[in-house]
Amino acid sequence: MRVQASFVWVMASTLAVAVACGGSAPPPESGGAEPVATTKADEPKPEEAKPDEAKPEEKKPEEAAKPAWKDMTHDQKVELMKTVVMPKMGAVFKELDAKKYAEITCATCHGPGAKEGKMQMPNAKLPKLDRTNGFAKHMKKNEKVTKFMMEKVTGEMAAALGVPAFNPETKQGFGCGGCHLMEGK
Ligand code: HEC
Ligand code: HEC
Repeated sequence: MRVQASFVWVMASTLAVAVACGGSAPPPESGGAEPVATTKADEPKPEEAKPDEAKPEEKKPEEAAKPAWKDMTHDQKVELMKTVVMPKMGAVFKELDAKKYAEITCATCHGPGAKEGKMQMPNAKLPKLDRTNGFAKHMKKNEKVTKFMMEKVTGEMAAALGVPAFNPETKQGFGCGGCHLMEGK
């Protein structure tokens, strides 16, 4: 019994020493704060075979070389969504309806599939927009929201992504179709 106890002690202290000296001990998990999306990174990026040190708690995104939205990896997109889009768009949607949007989630924009990491946009669960005559149908049905989408949501979202907002002359840029399916002309 005694022998066993001291053996355990030796093992324990050896371990303690190993942990204390070996800087290579794995870091603690980042606290389960990872969003559902990361569990299903459906776009493997072979060139992204990062060394281990890129994994632990990504608290300091490298500000220096911030890639453009279109060049971001899946993980970088998720990071931008969490750190920029959520707070910024959360505030924007609260302006529209503080009660309804007291707590926006990834699913507010991405739909219920967000839980399984389905982040494709546009989101077919949002109302399909008929753009005929300046969204006349929607203006009639819900002028307040439609205007807010035009005046606030689209521009703020484009800014959060760091992409140009929709330009009606060139028909280029981030617009309603960035989130909604579109029809009509
Ligand atoms: C305010 C709306 C909004 C919210 C909230 C939001 N997103 Fe997004 N997200 C978008 C839009 C819009 C795009 C598409 C941008 C583009 O490529 O035009 C997008 C794209 C993405 C993409 C890239 C999809 C792809 O395949 O290219 C990922 C991943 C993503 N979001 C994850 C998240 C996660 C995770 C959350 C919650 C932490 C979140 N998003 C919350 C609007 C939102
Ligand atoms: C960043 C993503 C995003 C963009 C861009 C966006 N919307 Fe929306 N829109 C939403 C979300 C999210 C809802 C649903 C809110 C809900 O169901 O609670 C919505 C709802 C709507 C509704 C439904 C209103 C109702 O309840 O009847 C209309 C109409 C609408 N949007 C029009 C537009 C128009 C027009 C544009 C472009 C000028 C636009 N949206 C751009 C995210 C977006």
